[in-house]
Amino acid sequence: MKRIMITGALGQIGSELIVKLRDIYGAENVLATDIRKTDSPVVNDGPFELLDVMDLENMRKLAKDFGADTMMHMAALLSATAEAKPLLAWNLNMGGLVNALETSRELGLQFFTPSSIGAFGPSTPKDNTPQDTLQRPTTMYGVNKVAGELLCDYYFQKFGVDTRGVRFPGLISYVTPPGGGTTDYAVDIYYKALEEGKYTSYIEKGTYMDMMYMPDALQAIVDLMEADASKLEHRNAFNVTAMSFEPEQIAASIRKHIPNFEMNYEVDPIRQTIANSWPDSIDASAAKAEWGFKAQYDLDEMTKDMLEKLATKMK
Ligand code: SER
Repeated sequence: MKRIMITGALGQIGSELIVKLRDIYGAENVLATDIRKTDSPVVNDGPFELLDVMDLENMRKLAKDFGADTMMHMAALLSATAEAKPLLAWNLNMGGLVNALETSRELGLQFFTPSSIGAFGPSTPKDNTPQDTLQRPTTMYGVNKVAGELLCDYYFQKFGVDTRGVRFPGLISYVTPPGGGTTDYAVDIYYKALEEGKYTSYIEKGTYMDMMYMPDALQAIVDLMEADASKLEHRNAFNVTAMSFEPEQIAASIRKHIPNFEMNYEVDPIRQTIANSWPDSIDASAAKAEWGFKAQYDLDEMTKDMLEKLATKMK
């Protein structure tokens, strides 16, 4: 039986992951934690505790009292915020991670944390980026992610903690808006398409990045955590992706439903520089081979579902 504790439960991934995990494993077996509390299903529909991930003592106590056997550490600052506040990002992203790993080592928990396409840099091969390749990122977020991947591997090798992770691409969802990411344009665009019929993109046309629809991302986490450990040659972290597109392609996909949709550009140099340093498309074959990763949604299927779900939500 799984008893899962999650940090960053009210964030972009956490708020949907918790609903899915409670469905699979039972609400009482999933402890959601975050630094804040909101009136939301995450807080109201199962165990919830306030936790600042910088507070190791409280983290350890909550995990112990709950009888957790699994830790999913989701609390982190995304790329653009990290670039604006690099020291805070270092302290929070690395401090939170090492506390979650320490808790997992002491209590013998299975461990998951997401890495990112941000763990790659300008010297990484841009197309079909291999699982094992050069990782010299030029953003604070990327520095955190590479250091995090190494730290997770270290805890596995040194202490036998069952650490697992994926390098997520941009994640797109209609539930919780992301905050402070570089790939967020691909979420904002759907809101604006429905609200105003037009969108001004801060990412330049022709800039390819990997993306994935949230249901596929959540399934990937569940599948990786359930995977047979003896089949895992890699651990921290697996390339996963569902699609790669540039702004004009997502606009074209939206026009299949909103024919007059208008796209303009006002490029943000900071986020554009971050995007330029990331791969155009990554190769997920190791994830497919080692634990059967598979994404269901392509760009058009995602667009159709996003527009339908958002339209209902915005009514
Ligand atoms: N979506 C994330 C970001 O843009 C990528 O990890 O920061």
